[in-house]
Amino acid sequence: MLTNGSNRSLEDIDKSGLVHAFSALYSQKDRDLVIWDHAEGLWLTTVDGDRYLDAAAGLWCTNIGYGRKELAEAAAEQMVRTSSVHCFAQFSNEPVIRLTDRLLDLAPENMRRIVYGNSGSDANDTQVKLVRRYNNVRGLPQKKKIISRLSAYHGSTIASGSLTGIPLVHRTFDLPIEGVLHTHMHDFHRRPSHIDTMDAYVRWLAEELEALILHEGPDTVAAFIAEPVTGAGGVLVPPEGYFRAIRAVLDRYDVLMIADEVITGFGRTGAWFASPEFGMGADLISVSKGITSGYFPMSACLISERVADVLYGEKADDGLFGHGFTASGHSVAAAVALANIDILEKEGLLANATRMGEVLLRRVREAVGGHELVGDIRGKGMIIGVEFDADRANGRPFADPTAVGSLLSKSALEEKLLVRGGHGRVLAAMAPALIATEADIEEIVHRFVRVVDRFADKLTVSGLKG
Ligand SMILES: Cc1ncc(COP(=O)(O)O)c(C=O)c1O
Repeated sequence: MLTNGSNRSLEDIDKSGLVHAFSALYSQKDRDLVIWDHAEGLWLTTVDGDRYLDAAAGLWCTNIGYGRKELAEAAAEQMVRTSSVHCFAQFSNEPVIRLTDRLLDLAPENMRRIVYGNSGSDANDTQVKLVRRYNNVRGLPQKKKIISRLSAYHGSTIASGSLTGIPLVHRTFDLPIEGVLHTHMHDFHRRPSHIDTMDAYVRWLAEELEALILHEGPDTVAAFIAEPVTGAGGVLVPPEGYFRAIRAVLDRYDVLMIADEVITGFGRTGAWFASPEFGMGADLISVSKGITSGYFPMSACLISERVADVLYGEKADDGLFGHGFTASGHSVAAAVALANIDILEKEGLLANATRMGEVLLRRVREAVGGHELVGDIRGKGMIIGVEFDADRANGRPFADPTAVGSLLSKSALEEKLLVRGGHGRVLAAMAPALIATEADIEEIVHRFVRVVDRFADKLTVSGLKG
Protein backbone atom coordinates (compact mmCIF):
# COMPACT_ATOMS: atom_id res chain seq x y z
CA MET A 1 0.00 0.00 0.00
CA LEU A 2 1.32 3.43 -0.92
CA THR A 3 1.22 5.79 1.98
CA ASN A 4 2.24 9.31 2.89
CA GLY A 5 4.01 8.09 6.00
CA SER A 6 0.80 7.43 7.89
CA ASN A 7 -1.05 4.17 7.51
CA ARG A 8 -3.57 5.62 5.05
CA SER A 9 -3.19 4.96 1.34
CA LEU A 10 -2.81 7.81 -1.16
CA GLU A 11 -6.19 6.80 -2.56
CA ASP A 12 -7.81 7.00 0.83
CA ILE A 13 -6.42 10.47 1.54
CA ASP A 14 -7.33 11.69 -1.94
CA LYS A 15 -10.89 10.45 -1.72
CA SER A 16 -11.48 11.89 1.70
CA GLY A 17 -9.79 15.26 1.18
CA LEU A 18 -9.21 16.39 -2.37
CA VAL A 19 -11.90 18.10 -4.44
CA HIS A 20 -11.38 17.13 -8.08
CA ALA A 21 -12.17 19.67 -10.78
CA PHE A 22 -15.09 18.93 -13.08
CA SER A 23 -16.10 15.70 -11.38
CA ALA A 24 -19.34 14.61 -9.74
CA LEU A 25 -18.62 15.12 -6.04
CA TYR A 26 -21.18 12.56 -4.88
CA SER A 27 -19.45 9.81 -6.88
CA GLN A 28 -15.89 10.65 -5.86
CA LYS A 29 -15.61 7.82 -3.37
CA ASP A 30 -16.60 5.21 -5.99
CA ARG A 31 -14.24 6.41 -8.71
CA ASP A 32 -11.14 4.45 -9.71
CA LEU A 33 -8.35 6.95 -9.15
CA VAL A 34 -5.47 7.27 -11.56
CA ILE A 35 -2.45 8.58 -9.64
CA TRP A 36 0.43 9.65 -11.86
CA ASP A 37 3.97 8.94 -10.83
CA HIS A 38 6.06 10.18 -13.75
CA ALA A 39 5.82 11.20 -17.38
CA GLU A 40 7.99 11.41 -20.47
CA GLY A 41 7.26 12.44 -24.05
CA LEU A 42 3.65 11.39 -24.71
CA TRP A 43 3.58 8.78 -21.97
CA LEU A 44 2.33 8.92 -18.39
CA THR A 45 2.99 6.22 -15.80
CA THR A 46 0.90 5.61 -12.68
CA VAL A 47 2.15 4.74 -9.20
CA ASP A 48 1.14 1.14 -10.04
CA GLY A 49 3.34 1.13 -13.14
CA ASP A 50 0.53 1.32 -15.75
CA ARG A 51 1.49 3.34 -18.84
CA TYR A 52 -0.99 5.58 -20.65
CA LEU A 53 -0.55 7.18 -24.05
CA ASP A 54 -1.61 10.82 -23.77
CA ALA A 55 -3.33 11.91 -26.97
CA ALA A 56 -4.61 15.07 -25.28
CA ALA A 57 -1.39 16.71 -24.03
CA GLY A 58 -2.88 16.85 -20.54
CA LEU A 59 -5.49 19.57 -20.82
CA TRP A 60 -4.35 20.58 -24.34
CA CYS A 61 -1.18 22.07 -22.95
CA THR A 62 2.02 20.00 -22.84
CA ASN A 63 3.02 21.16 -26.32
CA ILE A 64 6.68 20.10 -25.93
CA GLY A 65 5.76 16.78 -24.29
CA TYR A 66 6.48 15.65 -20.74
CA GLY A 67 9.75 15.51 -18.84
CA ARG A 68 11.88 18.16 -20.56
CA LYS A 69 14.85 18.87 -18.31
CA GLU A 70 15.54 22.22 -20.00
CA LEU A 71 12.41 23.65 -18.35
CA ALA A 72 13.25 22.14 -14.97
CA GLU A 73 16.74 23.63 -15.18
CA ALA A 74 15.42 27.06 -16.21
CA ALA A 75 12.97 26.98 -13.27
CA ALA A 76 15.59 25.81 -10.76
CA GLU A 77 18.11 28.43 -11.83
CA GLN A 78 15.55 31.24 -11.65
CA MET A 79 14.17 30.06 -8.31
CA VAL A 80 17.64 30.31 -6.83
CA ARG A 81 18.25 33.69 -8.49
CA THR A 82 15.07 35.60 -7.69
CA SER A 83 12.65 33.19 -5.94
CA SER A 84 9.42 35.18 -5.72
CA VAL A 85 9.66 38.76 -6.93
CA HIS A 86 6.70 40.82 -8.11
CA CYS A 87 5.94 43.27 -10.90
CA PHE A 88 3.90 45.81 -8.95
CA ALA A 89 4.68 49.51 -9.42
CA GLN A 90 8.29 49.99 -10.61
CA PHE A 91 9.56 46.47 -9.91
CA SER A 92 10.47 44.07 -12.69
CA ASN A 93 12.77 41.16 -13.50
CA GLU A 94 14.91 40.10 -16.43
CA PRO A 95 13.00 36.98 -17.62
CA VAL A 96 9.65 38.77 -17.77
CA ILE A 97 11.19 41.67 -19.72
CA ARG A 98 12.79 39.26 -22.19
CA LEU A 99 9.56 37.28 -22.48
CA THR A 100 7.56 40.44 -23.19
CA ASP A 101 9.94 41.31 -26.00
CA ARG A 102 9.75 37.79 -27.41
CA LEU A 103 5.94 37.56 -27.24
CA LEU A 104 5.38 40.93 -28.88
CA ASP A 105 7.73 39.80 -31.61
CA LEU A 106 5.79 36.57 -32.22
CA ALA A 107 2.31 38.09 -31.79
CA PRO A 108 0.12 39.64 -34.50
CA GLU A 109 1.63 42.89 -35.63
CA ASN A 110 -0.92 45.19 -33.90
CA MET A 111 -0.12 43.93 -30.36
CA ARG A 112 1.69 46.42 -28.09
CA ARG A 113 1.36 45.56 -24.37
CA ILE A 114 1.07 42.56 -22.09
CA VAL A 115 -0.64 41.94 -18.74
CA TYR A 116 0.48 38.69 -17.08
CA GLY A 117 -1.50 36.29 -14.90
CA ASN A 118 -1.57 32.65 -13.86
CA SER A 119 -4.37 30.82 -15.69
CA GLY A 120 -6.56 30.97 -18.75
CA SER A 121 -9.50 31.86 -16.53
CA ASP A 122 -7.79 34.84 -14.94
CA ALA A 123 -6.59 36.02 -18.36
CA ASN A 124 -10.19 36.19 -19.54
CA ASP A 125 -11.26 37.90 -16.30
CA THR A 126 -8.55 40.46 -16.98
CA GLN A 127 -9.91 40.94 -20.50
CA VAL A 128 -13.33 41.77 -19.05
CA LYS A 129 -11.71 44.39 -16.84
CA LEU A 130 -9.60 45.80 -19.67
CA VAL A 131 -12.71 46.17 -21.82
CA ARG A 132 -14.57 47.91 -18.98
CA ARG A 133 -11.70 50.29 -18.32
CA TYR A 134 -11.25 50.96 -22.06
CA ASN A 135 -14.83 52.21 -22.37
CA ASN A 136 -14.80 54.04 -19.04
CA VAL A 137 -11.72 55.96 -20.13
CA ARG A 138 -13.43 56.68 -23.48
CA GLY A 139 -16.37 58.17 -21.60
CA LEU A 140 -18.73 55.34 -22.64
CA PRO A 141 -19.76 53.87 -19.28
CA GLN A 142 -22.86 52.16 -20.75
CA LYS A 143 -20.79 50.18 -23.27
CA LYS A 144 -19.89 47.14 -21.19
CA LYS A 145 -21.69 43.99 -22.38
CA ILE A 146 -19.64 41.11 -23.70
CA ILE A 147 -20.99 38.60 -26.19
CA SER A 148 -19.66 35.06 -26.04
CA ARG A 149 -20.97 31.90 -27.72
CA LEU A 150 -22.89 28.84 -26.58
CA SER A 151 -20.53 25.85 -26.12
CA ALA A 152 -17.50 28.12 -25.73
CA TYR A 153 -15.08 27.42 -22.88
CA HIS A 154 -13.31 30.46 -21.45
CA GLY A 155 -12.67 29.34 -17.87
CA SER A 156 -14.49 28.75 -14.59
CA THR A 157 -14.07 31.86 -12.43
CA ILE A 158 -17.00 34.22 -11.89
CA ALA A 159 -16.33 36.29 -15.02
CA SER A 160 -14.64 33.72 -17.28
CA GLY A 161 -17.17 31.07 -16.20
CA SER A 162 -19.89 33.50 -17.29
CA LEU A 163 -18.21 33.86 -20.69
CA THR A 164 -18.16 30.07 -20.96
CA GLY A 165 -21.27 28.88 -22.77
CA ILE A 166 -21.58 25.45 -21.16
CA PRO A 167 -24.53 25.00 -18.75
CA LEU A 168 -22.71 22.87 -16.16
CA VAL A 169 -20.29 25.75 -15.51
CA HIS A 170 -23.25 28.04 -14.77
CA ARG A 171 -25.62 25.71 -12.94
CA THR A 172 -25.58 26.04 -9.15
CA PHE A 173 -23.11 28.95 -9.29
CA ASP A 174 -25.62 31.68 -10.27
CA LEU A 175 -23.84 32.39 -13.55
CA PRO A 176 -23.64 34.06 -15.97
CA ILE A 177 -23.19 37.46 -14.35
CA GLU A 178 -25.10 40.43 -15.69
CA GLY A 179 -23.72 41.86 -18.90
CA VAL A 180 -22.58 38.58 -20.44
CA LEU A 181 -24.60 37.31 -23.40
CA HIS A 182 -24.29 34.26 -25.64
CA THR A 183 -24.89 33.93 -29.33
CA HIS A 184 -24.71 30.78 -31.48
CA MET A 185 -21.53 28.78 -31.98
CA HIS A 186 -20.43 27.68 -35.44
CA ASP A 187 -21.22 23.98 -35.37
CA PHE A 188 -21.92 22.88 -38.91
CA HIS A 189 -22.54 19.27 -37.94
CA ARG A 190 -25.33 20.39 -35.57
CA ARG A 191 -26.57 23.37 -37.60
CA PRO A 192 -30.28 24.25 -37.83
CA SER A 193 -32.01 21.96 -40.32
CA HIS A 194 -33.04 24.76 -42.70
CA ILE A 195 -29.40 25.61 -43.52
CA ASP A 196 -27.61 23.50 -46.10
CA THR A 197 -24.51 25.35 -47.27
CA MET A 198 -21.52 26.69 -45.38
CA ASP A 199 -21.99 30.16 -46.92
CA ALA A 200 -25.60 30.31 -45.79
CA TYR A 201 -24.53 29.14 -42.33
CA VAL A 202 -21.87 31.86 -42.00
CA ARG A 203 -24.40 34.48 -43.12
CA TRP A 204 -26.95 33.21 -40.60
CA LEU A 205 -24.42 33.29 -37.74
CA ALA A 206 -23.34 36.83 -38.58
CA GLU A 207 -26.98 37.95 -38.83
CA GLU A 208 -27.80 36.37 -35.48
CA LEU A 209 -24.92 38.25 -33.88
CA GLU A 210 -25.97 41.51 -35.48
CA ALA A 211 -29.57 41.00 -34.35
CA LEU A 212 -28.37 40.44 -30.78
CA ILE A 213 -26.25 43.61 -30.82
CA LEU A 214 -29.17 45.62 -32.20
CA HIS A 215 -31.57 44.12 -29.69
CA GLU A 216 -29.27 44.98 -26.77
CA GLY A 217 -28.37 48.37 -28.21
CA PRO A 218 -24.94 48.88 -29.82
CA ASP A 219 -24.16 51.56 -27.22
CA THR A 220 -24.18 48.86 -24.56
CA VAL A 221 -22.09 46.18 -26.31
CA ALA A 222 -18.33 46.39 -25.74
CA ALA A 223 -16.73 43.14 -26.91
CA PHE A 224 -17.10 39.71 -28.48
CA ILE A 225 -14.96 36.79 -27.31
CA ALA A 226 -14.16 33.61 -29.22
CA GLU A 227 -11.66 30.77 -29.42
CA PRO A 228 -10.13 30.61 -32.93
CA VAL A 229 -10.78 26.86 -32.85
CA THR A 230 -13.33 25.91 -30.19
CA GLY A 231 -11.69 23.35 -27.90
CA ALA A 232 -13.60 21.88 -24.97
CA GLY A 233 -16.92 22.80 -26.57
CA GLY A 234 -16.39 20.29 -29.37
CA VAL A 235 -13.22 20.93 -31.44
CA LEU A 236 -15.12 23.15 -33.85
CA VAL A 237 -13.07 24.61 -36.69
CA PRO A 238 -14.60 27.86 -37.96
CA PRO A 239 -16.13 27.69 -41.43
CA GLU A 240 -14.36 29.60 -44.19
CA GLY A 241 -15.15 33.31 -43.88
CA TYR A 242 -16.81 33.02 -40.44
CA PHE A 243 -14.54 35.31 -38.44
CA ARG A 244 -14.28 37.82 -41.28
CA ALA A 245 -18.07 38.06 -41.33
CA ILE A 246 -18.17 38.40 -37.53
CA ARG A 247 -15.41 41.00 -37.56
CA ALA A 248 -17.35 43.06 -40.11
CA VAL A 249 -20.40 43.08 -37.79
CA LEU A 250 -18.24 44.11 -34.81
CA ASP A 251 -16.67 46.91 -36.82
CA ARG A 252 -20.10 48.34 -37.66
CA TYR A 253 -20.87 48.78 -33.95
CA ASP A 254 -17.49 49.66 -32.43
CA VAL A 255 -17.21 46.28 -30.65
CA LEU A 256 -13.82 44.79 -29.71
CA MET A 257 -12.74 41.26 -30.67
CA ILE A 258 -11.11 39.15 -27.93
CA ALA A 259 -9.36 36.03 -29.22
CA ASP A 260 -9.10 33.35 -26.55
CA GLU A 261 -5.94 31.57 -27.69
CA VAL A 262 -5.49 29.65 -24.44
CA ILE A 263 -5.51 26.35 -26.38
CA THR A 264 -4.49 27.53 -29.83
CA GLY A 265 -1.54 29.74 -28.85
CA PHE A 266 2.02 28.42 -29.13
CA GLY A 267 1.76 26.01 -32.01
CA ARG A 268 -1.34 23.87 -31.56
CA THR A 269 -2.71 24.81 -35.01
CA GLY A 270 0.74 25.12 -36.60
CA ALA A 271 1.27 28.83 -35.89
CA TRP A 272 2.28 30.85 -32.84
CA PHE A 273 -1.21 32.36 -32.84
CA ALA A 274 -4.20 30.98 -34.74
CA SER A 275 -6.36 34.11 -34.83
CA PRO A 276 -4.64 35.87 -37.78
CA GLU A 277 -5.15 32.93 -40.15
CA PHE A 278 -8.89 33.02 -39.48
CA GLY A 279 -9.08 36.79 -40.01
CA MET A 280 -10.20 37.53 -36.45
CA GLY A 281 -8.34 40.85 -36.34
CA ALA A 282 -8.15 40.52 -32.57
CA ASP A 283 -7.95 43.63 -30.40
CA LEU A 284 -7.10 41.54 -27.33
CA ILE A 285 -5.63 38.03 -27.07
CA SER A 286 -5.56 35.63 -24.10
CA VAL A 287 -2.89 32.92 -23.86
CA SER A 288 -1.92 30.41 -21.20
CA LYS A 289 -1.37 26.60 -21.35
CA GLY A 290 1.14 26.39 -24.27
CA ILE A 291 3.09 29.45 -23.10
CA THR A 292 4.92 27.18 -20.63
CA SER A 293 3.59 23.90 -22.06
CA GLY A 294 1.71 23.71 -18.76
CA TYR A 295 4.94 23.20 -16.77
CA PHE A 296 4.35 26.34 -14.71
CA PRO A 297 1.19 28.43 -14.24
CA MET A 298 1.22 31.51 -16.45
CA SER A 299 -1.14 33.49 -18.63
CA ALA A 300 -0.92 36.66 -20.64
CA CYS A 301 -3.33 39.18 -22.11
CA LEU A 302 -1.97 40.83 -25.23
CA ILE A 303 -3.28 44.33 -25.84
CA SER A 304 -3.45 45.91 -29.29
CA GLU A 305 -2.48 49.43 -30.20
CA ARG A 306 -6.18 50.38 -30.47
CA VAL A 307 -6.83 49.48 -26.83
CA ALA A 308 -3.39 50.41 -25.48
CA ASP A 309 -3.63 53.93 -26.90
CA VAL A 310 -6.79 54.51 -24.88
CA LEU A 311 -5.51 52.88 -21.69
CA TYR A 312 -2.21 54.72 -21.82
CA GLY A 313 -3.85 57.99 -22.77
CA GLU A 314 -6.00 58.00 -19.66
CA LYS A 315 -6.24 61.14 -17.56
CA ALA A 316 -4.76 61.24 -14.07
CA ASP A 317 -8.22 61.26 -12.45
CA ASP A 318 -8.93 57.79 -13.86
CA GLY A 319 -6.51 56.62 -11.17
CA LEU A 320 -4.09 53.75 -10.87
CA PHE A 321 -4.43 50.57 -12.90
CA GLY A 322 -5.75 48.69 -9.87
CA HIS A 323 -5.25 45.20 -11.17
CA GLY A 324 -2.64 42.44 -10.88
CA PHE A 325 -1.76 39.37 -8.87
CA THR A 326 1.15 38.49 -6.61
CA ALA A 327 2.44 36.13 -9.31
CA SER A 328 1.74 38.36 -12.35
CA GLY A 329 4.99 38.35 -14.32
CA HIS A 330 6.54 35.71 -12.04
CA SER A 331 10.22 35.44 -12.89
CA VAL A 332 10.24 31.62 -12.70
CA ALA A 333 7.18 31.33 -14.97
CA ALA A 334 8.81 33.70 -17.44
CA ALA A 335 12.08 31.74 -17.41
CA VAL A 336 10.14 28.53 -18.04
CA ALA A 337 8.17 30.19 -20.86
CA LEU A 338 11.38 31.36 -22.52
CA ALA A 339 12.88 27.86 -22.35
CA ASN A 340 9.63 26.43 -23.73
CA ILE A 341 9.57 28.88 -26.65
CA ASP A 342 13.22 28.02 -27.36
CA ILE A 343 12.28 24.35 -27.70
CA LEU A 344 9.23 25.06 -29.88
CA GLU A 345 11.44 27.15 -32.14
CA LYS A 346 14.62 25.05 -32.27
CA GLU A 347 12.81 21.76 -32.80
CA GLY A 348 10.50 23.12 -35.48
CA LEU A 349 7.44 21.99 -33.52
CA LEU A 350 5.01 24.36 -35.25
CA ALA A 351 5.78 22.81 -38.61
CA ASN A 352 5.61 19.38 -37.01
CA ALA A 353 2.15 20.20 -35.64
CA THR A 354 0.94 21.01 -39.16
CA ARG A 355 2.54 17.90 -40.65
CA MET A 356 1.57 15.41 -37.95
CA GLY A 357 -1.86 17.01 -37.54
CA GLU A 358 -2.58 16.20 -41.18
CA VAL A 359 -1.39 12.63 -40.67
CA LEU A 360 -3.52 12.26 -37.54
CA LEU A 361 -6.66 13.61 -39.23
CA ARG A 362 -6.14 11.42 -42.32
CA ARG A 363 -5.35 8.27 -40.37
CA VAL A 364 -8.30 8.69 -37.97
CA ARG A 365 -10.60 9.24 -40.96
CA GLU A 366 -9.24 6.11 -42.66
CA ALA A 367 -9.49 4.04 -39.50
CA VAL A 368 -12.91 4.97 -38.10
CA GLY A 369 -14.48 7.34 -40.65
CA GLY A 370 -16.76 4.56 -41.91
CA HIS A 371 -17.86 3.35 -38.47
CA GLU A 372 -21.62 3.37 -37.97
CA LEU A 373 -21.33 5.50 -34.81
CA VAL A 374 -18.98 8.15 -36.21
CA GLY A 375 -20.85 11.24 -37.38
CA ASP A 376 -18.07 13.74 -38.02
CA ILE A 377 -14.28 14.02 -37.90
CA ARG A 378 -12.72 17.48 -37.99
CA GLY A 379 -9.54 19.25 -37.05
CA LYS A 380 -6.91 21.88 -37.60
CA GLY A 381 -3.23 21.24 -36.95
CA MET A 382 -2.72 19.09 -33.89
CA ILE A 383 -6.26 19.27 -32.56
CA ILE A 384 -8.93 16.95 -33.88
CA GLY A 385 -12.39 15.86 -32.78
CA VAL A 386 -14.37 12.71 -33.52
CA GLU A 387 -18.10 13.18 -32.89
CA PHE A 388 -20.40 10.21 -32.43
CA ASP A 389 -24.05 10.11 -33.50
CA ALA A 390 -26.93 7.87 -32.48
CA ASP A 391 -27.98 7.74 -36.12
CA ARG A 392 -25.22 8.44 -38.60
CA ALA A 393 -27.50 8.52 -41.64
CA ASN A 394 -29.41 11.60 -40.49
CA GLY A 395 -26.89 12.97 -37.98
CA ARG A 396 -29.16 12.42 -34.99
CA PRO A 397 -27.31 13.02 -31.68
CA PHE A 398 -27.59 10.75 -28.64
CA ALA A 399 -30.50 11.49 -26.31
CA ASP A 400 -28.26 11.26 -23.23
CA PRO A 401 -24.81 12.52 -24.27
CA THR A 402 -23.49 12.57 -20.70
CA ALA A 403 -24.21 8.89 -20.05
CA VAL A 404 -23.04 7.83 -23.51
CA GLY A 405 -19.96 10.04 -23.24
CA SER A 406 -18.97 8.34 -20.01
CA LEU A 407 -19.02 4.96 -21.80
CA LEU A 408 -16.63 6.44 -24.34
CA SER A 409 -14.30 7.82 -21.63
CA LYS A 410 -14.35 4.47 -19.86
CA SER A 411 -13.44 2.68 -23.10
CA ALA A 412 -10.51 5.04 -23.67
CA LEU A 413 -9.20 4.54 -20.13
CA GLU A 414 -9.44 0.76 -20.52
CA GLU A 415 -7.29 1.04 -23.66
CA LYS A 416 -4.91 3.33 -21.74
CA LEU A 417 -5.42 6.13 -24.23
CA LEU A 418 -6.06 9.65 -22.90
CA VAL A 419 -8.50 11.70 -24.97
CA ARG A 420 -10.80 14.56 -23.94
CA GLY A 421 -14.58 14.28 -23.95
CA GLY A 422 -17.17 16.84 -25.00
CA HIS A 423 -19.89 18.81 -23.19
CA GLY A 424 -23.41 18.12 -24.41
CA ARG A 425 -22.11 15.91 -27.18
CA VAL A 426 -20.33 12.56 -27.50
CA LEU A 427 -16.84 13.46 -28.57
CA ALA A 428 -13.29 12.19 -28.49
CA ALA A 429 -10.91 15.13 -28.77
CA MET A 430 -7.26 14.50 -29.51
CA ALA A 431 -4.54 17.11 -29.18
CA PRO A 432 -1.22 15.30 -28.73
CA ALA A 433 2.02 17.01 -27.82
CA LEU A 434 3.53 18.74 -30.85
CA ILE A 435 6.59 16.47 -30.65
CA ALA A 436 4.52 13.47 -31.86
CA THR A 437 6.14 11.33 -34.54
CA GLU A 438 4.40 9.22 -37.20
CA ALA A 439 4.98 6.19 -34.99
CA ASP A 440 3.22 7.96 -32.09
CA ILE A 441 0.30 8.84 -34.37
CA GLU A 442 0.05 5.22 -35.53
CA GLU A 443 -0.05 4.04 -31.92
CA ILE A 444 -2.75 6.60 -31.07
CA VAL A 445 -4.86 5.50 -34.06
CA HIS A 446 -4.28 1.81 -33.29
CA ARG A 447 -5.56 2.29 -29.73
CA PHE A 448 -8.38 4.56 -30.83
CA VAL A 449 -9.79 1.88 -33.15
CA ARG A 450 -9.98 -0.46 -30.14
CA VAL A 451 -11.58 2.31 -28.07
CA VAL A 452 -14.33 2.73 -30.67
CA ASP A 453 -14.96 -1.04 -30.76
CA ARG A 454 -15.17 -1.22 -26.98
CA PHE A 455 -17.45 1.81 -26.92
CA ALA A 456 -19.78 0.21 -29.50
CA ASP A 457 -19.98 -2.96 -27.37
CA LYS A 458 -20.71 -1.03 -24.19
CA LEU A 459 -23.33 1.02 -25.97
CA THR A 460 -25.15 -2.09 -27.18
CA VAL A 461 -25.16 -3.60 -23.68
CA SER A 462 -26.22 -0.32 -22.02
CA GLY A 463 -29.41 0.20 -24.00
CA LEU A 464 -28.46 3.89 -24.44
CA LYS A 465 -28.04 3.60 -28.19
CA GLY A 466 -31.21 5.51 -29.11
C1 LIG B 1 -10.01 28.27 -24.58
C2 LIG B 1 -9.82 28.25 -23.10
N1 LIG B 1 -9.86 29.38 -22.42
C3 LIG B 1 -9.68 29.42 -21.09
C4 LIG B 1 -9.45 28.27 -20.38
C5 LIG B 1 -9.28 28.32 -18.89
O1 LIG B 1 -7.97 28.07 -18.56
P1 LIG B 1 -7.59 27.63 -17.05
O2 LIG B 1 -8.13 26.26 -16.87
O3 LIG B 1 -6.10 27.70 -17.05
O4 LIG B 1 -8.20 28.61 -16.15
C6 LIG B 1 -9.39 27.05 -21.05
C7 LIG B 1 -9.14 25.80 -20.33
O5 LIG B 1 -9.27 24.72 -20.84
C8 LIG B 1 -9.60 27.03 -22.44
O6 LIG B 1 -9.59 25.89 -23.13
